[in-house]
Amino acid sequence: MQNSLAIYYATMTGNAETLARRAHERALNEGWSARLINLSEVKPADLGAETLALFIVSTWGDGEPPADACDFHYDLEKDSAPALPALRFAILGLGDKDYSDFNAFARKLDERLVSLGAQRLHERIEADLDFDDTYAEWENRVFPLVGDVLKEAASLTR
Ligand SMILES: Cc1cc2nc3c(=O)[nH]c(=O)nc-3n(C[C@H](O)[C@H](O)[C@H](O)COP(=O)(O)O)c2cc1C
Repeated sequence: MQNSLAIYYATMTGNAETLARRAHERALNEGWSARLINLSEVKPADLGAETLALFIVSTWGDGEPPADACDFHYDLEKDSAPALPALRFAILGLGDKDYSDFNAFARKLDERLVSLGAQRLHERIEADLDFDDTYAEWENRVFPLVGDVLKEAASLTR
């Protein structure tokens, strides 16, 4: 099991990646071990090795994942997707309220991770096009929780 933070993103035009890079930089500044990963490079089985993950994902098309993350999403929805009892996670979704399927990918991902046994570290937060303030709010809420989990994990391995 990984004792570090995985920061996953899925993006089409770079917004989610920019925010994920910001989150990664803050995590490194906190002194944490953290990895920045595009969901296009991830298989659901990889999540089985993770204990702590942040997801920053946008929604495209008609409530679809960004193109690069479609394979990941498709595999995660299969019956063969792994159980994820060790995983704690938080999601920030990026979307646009003018679309009827607002933040649909973030919602589907959130629900699927929970149905596979993962636990929410914090409830999903959904951002509209002006995502900067929402990102700041998400970071301020989620990072202290991540810090607590990492501290707890470090005390158990001492
Ligand atoms: C063609 C198109 C389709 C979109 N579809 C949705 C959608 O179904 N639901 C939603 O909430 N946002 C939708 N959006 C808004 C994007 O999710 C939003 O612009 C987001 O900030 C893009 O982030 P990214 O650059 O990380 O991909 C769409 C945007 C475009 C241009």
